[in-house]
Amino acid sequence: MLKRGLEGVIVAETAIGDVDGQRGQLLYRGYNAANLAETKSFEEVAFLLLYGELPTSEDLSAFSAELKEKRILPKSLETLMHSLPYSLSIMDALRTCVSSLNSTATWPPTKAEAIQLIALFPTIIAFWVRHSKGEAVPTPDPTLSHVDHYFYLLTGGKPEPAQSAALTAYLVLTMEHGMNASTFAARVVSSTESDLPSAICGALGAMKGPLHGGAPTGVLQLLKDVQTASDDPEFVLRKKLDAGEKLMGFGHRVYKTYDPRAVALRNVLQKSGGDQHVLQDAVHLEALITKLLAEYKPGRKLHVNVEYYAAAVMDALALDSDWFTPTFCVSRIVGWSAHVLEQAADNRIFRPSQTYVGGVR
Ligand code: ACO
Repeated sequence: MLKRGLEGVIVAETAIGDVDGQRGQLLYRGYNAANLAETKSFEEVAFLLLYGELPTSEDLSAFSAELKEKRILPKSLETLMHSLPYSLSIMDALRTCVSSLNSTATWPPTKAEAIQLIALFPTIIAFWVRHSKGEAVPTPDPTLSHVDHYFYLLTGGKPEPAQSAALTAYLVLTMEHGMNASTFAARVVSSTESDLPSAICGALGAMKGPLHGGAPTGVLQLLKDVQTASDDPEFVLRKKLDAGEKLMGFGHRVYKTYDPRAVALRNVLQKSGGDQHVLQDAVHLEALITKLLAEYKPGRKLHVNVEYYAAAVMDALALDSDWFTPTFCVSRIVGWSAHVLEQAADNRIFRPSQTYVGGVR
């Protein structure tokens, strides 16, 4: 029977994570991702997803040191990026760089190769952001963690503790999310016994599409529309709903209750001591939109999703909206890599069937 978009079709057994849409729960290797986001570093959670266990302090030191060592941009990538046209988007530059790494990778993929990519993503993205604007890239700072270093390379400044906590929570909460389109793409490429960079190129291609990694840009537009209108927010929102518009940052294919990532991000923002005024506006608007969606779309179970508070995080960090999807990749590279390693450990090439509807001549 045809299942368009493979909805409901189980294509793999995984021990990496579980998305429970009815209960609003996301697990990473059995741990609640929302708790991890509030209590663990990027390095700890990345280690957990790759190795299956939280690191001991020795593991963590070694893993952090390996990430720091591998985040230095190789000369070959710098030369490559100097040869690319400035007009290339960040996602295209990132995919091109990953593609150029193929010659060093083999089958089966290794954790060392995965760590190389996890380490390099922030450096490649920040280099391209800076270079394409004709700006110098800051000198690497080995004292900074993976997340703080990314922020530093992008902006030239070190994040305040509240900013670091918010960015860490966002990156931890978006590291892994089941059999989404980019993860599935990575597993399909890997199932042909192709190398890890090729699988990640497939994932990056999928992530670039607006239906997947469009990220919180639409939410920022919605917030702006409401904030800048001279009319009452409820009037502005009703006008949008009356026109059949979807309100970005609400609803989800899997979650039929609150998206646990949105709740966790809101909690982190509330505790982190950042700009509470902006956050209060977002919380107030969330309540209003939830009430209106229940009225306009009764029974559809439309709740806030991760994109809504991701937009608040990006706004609080003053990150450019062009950086949203690449920043999503800085975290999701961990989930993609874990899935490719899992696929390789028990591989069978993906080869679904089709129904021919073309007739005979
Ligand atoms: N605003 C207004 N109405 C909505 C919204 C919304 N955000 N989301 C769903 N609806 C309505 C639909 O119009 C539809 O109404 P109908 O039954 O009268 O036709 C009903 O609710 C069901 O919606 P579907 O689109 O069928 O639900 P689906 O599960 O397929 O879609 C999706 C989920 C795509 C996320 C949808 O809710 C949406 O477009 N939301 C806005 C975009 C968004 O926030 N995307 C980010 C998702 S999180 C992530 O990808 C990481």
